Amino acid sequence: MQTQTENQAETQWVAALDAEARGLVAAVDAQPDASRLLDGTLDQAGYIHYLIQTYHYARWSTPILAEAGHRLKRLGRHPELAELLIQKGEEERGHERWLLADLKNLGCPAAQVEAAARSPAVDAYTGWNFFTSRAGVPAAVLGTAYVLEYLSQTRAGVWAERLRAVAAIPNIHKSVTFLRNHGALDGDHVAEMARILGRLTDPEEQAAILFSARVARLVYPCIFREGGAASIPLAR
Ligand SMILES: [Fe+2]
Ligand SMILES: [Fe+2]
Repeated sequence: MQTQTENQAETQWVAALDAEARGLVAAVDAQPDASRLLDGTLDQAGYIHYLIQTYHYARWSTPILAEAGHRLKRLGRHPELAELLIQKGEEERGHERWLLADLKNLGCPAAQVEAAARSPAVDAYTGWNFFTSRAGVPAAVLGTAYVLEYLSQTRAGVWAERLRAVAAIPNIHKSVTFLRNHGALDGDHVAEMARILGRLTDPEEQAAILFSARVARLVYPCIFREGGAASIPLAR
């Protein structure tokens, strides 16, 4: 049986995580290309840039999550969070293939995607999350997952719908698999994470999760073209 004070502490900590997630949505909406995703008017080059950069971090989601989960298990701490990380690693498996399929339908073959330059934001994102997964506080990866899935439940489905409705990009109706599937799945994923994370009372672990959520909030919005269509392409 929990006391009211314990319940309040749990609610407060998940509310802090939600505040980071809402901050991420606001920061993304403020990016010129992301605002064009929201009204459906993004041009082909901007959408391709976004999908390629997404591919370059999403391809690592399963190893980052799974390694964090298995390491947490080996450390013998927070078994419920270890299981959640392993489960989320499985949930993410193969999502990079949706990106490759969407890009192919936009005329961008896999070889071109693989050869494309990664944005500094993608390197920062994968570098930080591989660090926490393999050497830092492994549960911190859940902070990243939480805010990105929150963004996804709030925006991915809407972006897919608007892109299709405006149809400014040739073949767009065959090129929104990644967005459409995430919009459909991630609402439940966020609710499940909030329920499990609400039971976490360790302040150090909470701080590490919040810290990674904050890193994602700062880094992720920079995967879009800087300044929108006026930006200089990334150099390799
Ligand atoms: Fe995914
Ligand atoms: Fe998800």
